[in-house]
Amino acid sequence: MQITDETIETLDSAEAWVYWGVDCFEQHGIYCGHGTDNVLDEAAWLVLAALEMPLDVSLANVPQPLAPLQRRAIANLFQQRVETRKPAAYLTNEAWFCGLRFYVDERVLVPRSPIGELIVNGFAPWWPDQSPVSRVLDIGTGSGCIAIACAHAFPAAVVDAADISLEALAVTQQNIELHQLDARVNRVESDLFSALDGRRYDIIVSNPPYVDAEDIALMPEEFHHEPPLGLVAGTDGLDFAVRILQDAPRYLTAEGVLIVEVGNSDAALAQRFPTVPFMWLEFENGGHGVFLLTAQELAEYHELFLAA
Ligand SMILES: C[S@@+](CC[C@H](N)C(=O)[O-])C[C@H]1O[C@@H](n2cnc3c(N)ncnc32)[C@H](O)[C@@H]1O
Repeated sequence: MQITDETIETLDSAEAWVYWGVDCFEQHGIYCGHGTDNVLDEAAWLVLAALEMPLDVSLANVPQPLAPLQRRAIANLFQQRVETRKPAAYLTNEAWFCGLRFYVDERVLVPRSPIGELIVNGFAPWWPDQSPVSRVLDIGTGSGCIAIACAHAFPAAVVDAADISLEALAVTQQNIELHQLDARVNRVESDLFSALDGRRYDIIVSNPPYVDAEDIALMPEEFHHEPPLGLVAGTDGLDFAVRILQDAPRYLTAEGVLIVEVGNSDAALAQRFPTVPFMWLEFENGGHGVFLLTAQELAEYHELFLAA
């Protein structure tokens, strides 16, 4: 894609660039879903990032005419977005989750889990308001977004942020420092629960890899910039979810809860364990395929999970 000098000279305001970006992104069929769900927001994000302005600035309030260097910076980001298909979050190195800013790059998934909605609501009504949360575990923490958002939601809690990928954990650490949470959020190199023996948690939350082999092949190019270790989970997408179900009882407190995202693999999970009363959570802001089980339920169906 070539953005001509004439285009760059003509488009003199942030708004003009956003509308031009919308047309351009539509024409090139870019996929939105890594932080935005439409091309208008995607274009506005890249324009404001290029101008080094916060995302809540109204486009109408951006001083104009834009300087030539500003226009070149926008054109450069648009061009990269279309040519590389990298999600905007990787081009700008930032993403938002639960209203918090995170550093991201291609070592971690772009934060977008619907679990964020549960966190900002303090996991109510599944975690009672009055009960203090002491320990939280986030399995497959990636950028650390879920762990760090939990630490914000439960100011007295200590949070373990576990991941098998050392590359991802380097980003986790960067975000722990960004949020000044070194005292309460611990990154842990762990294959699911392997490094956590002896610990008990009130809440175990996980957005593990859950994409099945068929879905991976069909996913838009944008997903292929994300680390495969964060997405791929065997033929039915359940490799990690089943291991978590098998081991979680040993790591939960008696009143604890397990919350796991399995996305489109929800049907396969329900089919594999038809008698288990998975509570499939609902979301106001979109998303599906997140279940909750209590420690008691996990104990009750433990043999079934072990036999899987
Ligand atoms: C879907 S991503 C979720 C990242 C982050 N929690 C989020 O919601 O954006 C899954 C994460 O699980 C990690 N992972 C993959 N296999 C793992 C394993 N066996 N044990 C722990 N983490 C694992 C990946 O490195 C990746 O960071």
